[in-house]
Amino acid sequence: MAAMSEELLRPEPQGAEHNMRSLRPHTLAEFVGQEGIKERLKIYIQAAKARGEPLDHVLLLSPPGLGKTTLAHIIAEEMGAAIKVSSGPAIERPGDLASILTRLSPRDVFFIDEIHRLRRQVEEVLYPAMEDYKLDIVLGEGPHARSIRLELAPFTLVGATTREGLLTSPLRDRFEVTFRLEFYRPEELAEIIRRAGAKLGITVTAEGARELAARARGTPRIALRLLRRARDVVQVAGANAVDGVLARKTLEMLGIDAEGLDGLDRKILGVIIDRFEGGPVGLETLAAALGEDRDTISEVYEPYLIAKGFIRRTPQGRQATEKAYRHLGRAPTTLL
Ligand SMILES: Nc1ncnc2c1ncn2[C@@H]1O[C@H](COP(=O)(O)OP(=O)(O)O)[C@@H](O)[C@H]1O
Ligand SMILES: [Mg+2]
Repeated sequence: MAAMSEELLRPEPQGAEHNMRSLRPHTLAEFVGQEGIKERLKIYIQAAKARGEPLDHVLLLSPPGLGKTTLAHIIAEEMGAAIKVSSGPAIERPGDLASILTRLSPRDVFFIDEIHRLRRQVEEVLYPAMEDYKLDIVLGEGPHARSIRLELAPFTLVGATTREGLLTSPLRDRFEVTFRLEFYRPEELAEIIRRAGAKLGITVTAEGARELAARARGTPRIALRLLRRARDVVQVAGANAVDGVLARKTLEMLGIDAEGLDGLDRKILGVIIDRFEGGPVGLETLAAALGEDRDTISEVYEPYLIAKGFIRRTPQGRQATEKAYRHLGRAPTTLL
């Protein structure tokens, strides 16, 4: 059970999402929720297009699965421009960056995922490229080295990260626009499920969509995975729609409870309460006690547990809230 649930939360699945790719919205109008972001983007894009300029550089911040990659593609599409996709760890040397940048056409979008993982030397080449569309290249070595300056096509850099805290301030300062995507409301997730169901040819009743949406951790990626699992349950049951009953059966099978928490969520809360008297406990200690990767806990699990009020982050570490005690059916003992 726990293994299946963990798979649902894994940020980058091995090709599992492949057949979901066609479900990606292609326009701002199809992108559900995040109304404030869409409204601003619409204005910025319209204005940039009218001026014949690229859109200002955009930084997208959020926990995994909330739509950063999708938005990057939508920005290019709405600009009528091409998109070039890379990621922080994939750009190993300044030369790799140079070869991408020099091939961009005016107003193209260059999307760097996991931008917090850019190497420092690469990042330094990016600064003048972002500011002045200039690229400084060093030719030769030692005393004969000389540097030349190349003009780049005016482009838009879209950076995405789940780890805002790991961005250097010179890099962050070079983004004119920063958007923080928020967890989605259940009605928005139900809408995403309904649309995806229609595209995949799966009938989803209003109740079925509501059940899945309520327990998708505010996250479209998880909502869509739940839909896929529900489709399997429907098929095996010989039924023809994801209704309330089959949706609940799917969630039960996956070990997802009424609050949308899975096995590892409950284990995290249980360990804080039982082994550390409710905390505060440091992230490292907690990860070791759970035998889990610390980044998985802090990037994938914690944001939702904090947003839902199950965990509090204090300078001394993570603390279980009264809501966590109640959810696990424990009596709060020495709560403040
Ligand atoms: N606002 C949205 N409306 C509809 N589908 C969305 C929305 N946001 C994300 N999705 C879908 O959820 C999945 C995960 O989104 P993605 O952009 O890959 O998230 P991130 O890059 O933030 O991890 C994709 O299949 C995407 O199509
Ligand atoms: Mg992404």
